[in-house]
Amino acid sequence: MSEQHIGVVGAGTMGQGIAQVAVASGFNVRLFDVAEEPLGRAKANIDKGLSKLVAKEKISEADKSAALARLSTTTTLDALSDCAVIIEAAPEQPELKETIFRDLSRLSSTAILASNTSSLSLTRLAAVCEHPERVVGMHFFNPVPVLKLVEVIRAEQTSDATVAEIETLTKALGKTAVPIGDAPGFAVNRLLVPMINEAAFIVQEGTATPEAIDDAMKLGAAHPMGPLALADLIGLDVCLAIMEVLQEGFGDPKYRPCPLLKRMVAAGYLGRKSGRGFYSYD
Ligand code: CAA
Repeated sequence: MSEQHIGVVGAGTMGQGIAQVAVASGFNVRLFDVAEEPLGRAKANIDKGLSKLVAKEKISEADKSAALARLSTTTTLDALSDCAVIIEAAPEQPELKETIFRDLSRLSSTAILASNTSSLSLTRLAAVCEHPERVVGMHFFNPVPVLKLVEVIRAEQTSDATVAEIETLTKALGKTAVPIGDAPGFAVNRLLVPMINEAAFIVQEGTATPEAIDDAMKLGAAHPMGPLALADLIGLDVCLAIMEVLQEGFGDPKYRPCPLLKRMVAAGYLGRKSGRGFYSYD
């Protein structure tokens, strides 16, 4: 598989991370986005990410150059037509993802189409494709170069062969595949994001500050970072969207999004990417 190209759709944080891991693992990657600007930013960030590995002596300068040489970028979706696997990491908007999957499924009759969606139904995405049996979820975690998990989500239509190929690819990327069914939030986000939402309620009620909550969870539950620093890393808009998917998907009021979270998103306080969330960033 490593001689074949992997396509990555979307050059945001997740697409960049997936592309970095794939080129570092020996795969040729074609990274697509709608404009040159995000692609340029992605290349610079991937260069920076690989430099971290050089600085830690995990790879050599030559390995880094070879990895970068395996990366190409494009603003034409058709350029992904010869990719064996295409991993979609576009913004979390159902109509956008459905359009991308419909278009990708017409590009190739053999490619596996994987989505990095954090909460949308893979079964619905597969339903718009010409070969739904080759549609699967491949859910990576941020920061992708660091976190080892890939949730492999099986849509109703996904074939055993597709799951097997994606498990093999996940291993080749140095990650661990965990099989999960196609339910809202899958496993990790269904647990993680309600915890973040509850932390926002604690702030809203004035029970504790973000700093106090984060210190408490780092020291008392051994989390590597507190839930509100994590919310800023994930993006408050993404957290809110996941709560809405959980609430709608399960119809259970226990998943109601915290009003403070809603207000912050409405104000454009999205976390690290906007410079302000529960914390401020330069
Ligand atoms: N490329 C390569 N290596 C990288 C890197 C990159 N882009 N970014 C960081 N690293 C490496 C660093 O070099 C460092 O390596 P060593 O351990 O060898 O020193 C290591 O990763 C840790 O990085 P830092 O020292 O900079 O930072 P840290 O120790 O404070 O850890 C953290 C930061 C990895 C973010 C850690 O706090 C953590 O794991 N937090 C939890 C993150 C989490 O829960 N993510 C899941 C979010 S949910 C999600 O993604 C799903 C969704 O759908 C919303």
